[in-house]
Amino acid sequence: MRSLIDILDFTTEELDELIAVANDIIENPVKYSEKCKGKKLATLFFEPSTRTRLSFEAAMLELGGSVLGFSEANSSSAAKGESVADTAKTISCYADIIAMRHPKEGAPLVAAQNASIPVINAGDGGHNHPTQTLADLLTISREKGGFENLTVGFCGDLKFGRTVHSLISALSRYSGLKFVLISPDELKLPSYIKKDVLKKRNIPYEQTTDLESVIGDLDILYMTRVQRERFFNEEDYLRLKDSYILEPRKLKNAKPDLSIMHPLPRVNEISVAVDDDPRACYFKQVLNGKYIRMALILKLLEEAGR
Ligand code: CP
Repeated sequence: MRSLIDILDFTTEELDELIAVANDIIENPVKYSEKCKGKKLATLFFEPSTRTRLSFEAAMLELGGSVLGFSEANSSSAAKGESVADTAKTISCYADIIAMRHPKEGAPLVAAQNASIPVINAGDGGHNHPTQTLADLLTISREKGGFENLTVGFCGDLKFGRTVHSLISALSRYSGLKFVLISPDELKLPSYIKKDVLKKRNIPYEQTTDLESVIGDLDILYMTRVQRERFFNEEDYLRLKDSYILEPRKLKNAKPDLSIMHPLPRVNEISVAVDDDPRACYFKQVLNGKYIRMALILKLLEEAGR
């Protein structure tokens, strides 16, 4: 059974196909409005979410299907101690496809190993968030016309930011990219990603703590929130949370065609005054997230023969 647990589960050709289908959905929504008639998506969210859960639900509804599920662990039998494996077997009796978010790294993989329907990882701890990456890739492809020869800056919490980990993995398969990793020393990109992805593929990257000194080099600036929920103590979070606040004055040396991205939610990392800048793309990412999830649901249901 084909699931999506890690963005690398899909080849670059498959990612291109998903992007092409999402673009076709954007152009011809009516063509897709009954494609999932009679099909059910279960959203199993053991962690809070606004965009991912509701965009999955909107995606299935716009495909003519139905949705069921829960939005917090406490309203499911996980609160009574039920395992992820048993939850996945149970939901397989009720739905055609699962989208699962869980605070524990690897939980959606366990679900996929036990379900008899496709499972989509909607974010597992500080590990991966492949469908955010799909939304990011659709946005980059629409803004930049492709993925090659871009200088991409990642700024903020690169240690716990699962969207950063997934997007770096996905982009690393394209040629001519350079990454600029901007973070406080305590929140640097994990060394396993530098070793297994960047060094292994000979991708040039630099690390810095200073956003303004590199902003002029960037084609994409991917801002991230400091992930309070992953910190072991509040003191460290409070000290680091406002390390980077993007304000209009900090964009004075930025390229005119810079794309400013953020997976959202934001706290303070991007001032609302930046929202009116034509280079701000983060609400486009939100909308693109729905279209690419529609394409993903179609692909996985088709491959499952459902
Ligand atoms: N980007 C993202 O995952 O947002 P939510 O946490 O609101 O789903």
